[in-house]
Amino acid sequence: MHVNGRPVEHEVDDRTLLVEFLRQHCALTGTHVGCDTSQCGACTVKLDGAAVKSCTVLACQADGGQVVTVEGLAREDRLHPVQEAFVQCHGLQCGFCTPGMIMAVEHFLSTCPSSLDDETIHQALEGNICRCTGYVNIIAAVRHAAAAMYPQAWGGNAARGAHA
Ligand code: FES
Ligand code: FES
Repeated sequence: MHVNGRPVEHEVDDRTLLVEFLRQHCALTGTHVGCDTSQCGACTVKLDGAAVKSCTVLACQADGGQVVTVEGLAREDRLHPVQEAFVQCHGLQCGFCTPGMIMAVEHFLSTCPSSLDDETIHQALEGNICRCTGYVNIIAAVRHAAAAMYPQAWGGNAARGAHA
C-alpha cells in the first residue's frame, strides 16, 4: 500500500489490523488505539479517500490502497488548516483523541460542507469521542478550519454556522 504517499510493503499475519500495521510496521504512532469496541475513533485514518476506523480494517484489506494518517497532513513545514485550527482554537486537552478527530474533521471538510451548524458538525464527528474538552473548542476548530479552507463560502460567517 501507499501510506502518506510513500510505498510501504510488509508481510503480515492475516489478522493484523490496519492500525497495528501503521503503528508497528510503519512506526506511525500518531494513529491511536483508544478502545476495543470500535467506538472512540482515535484510530481514524483515510483509506482511498474515505475516513475509516483503522481498528476495524484488516491490513490486508488495505492492500494496494492509499492510506493517509495524521502524519501525512502537513506540507513541509506548514500544518494542514485543520491542524492549525486545533492549535488556534485549543481544540484539545490531553490530545489522545486529537489525531483521529483531526482526520475525521479533515474528511468532513474535504469537500466544502453546505452547513456548519451544530447539528451538522455533531453528525460529522459522531464516530469520535473526546473525554476531555466538552467538544466546544473542537467545534470552534471545525469552523475555523472551514473558514481557512473555503474563505468565500465560510470566511465571514463561519463562526455562526451559516453560509457567507
Ligand atoms: Fe477506538 Fe478504533 S481504537 S474506534
Ligand atoms: Fe483528551 Fe480529547 S483531548 S480525549
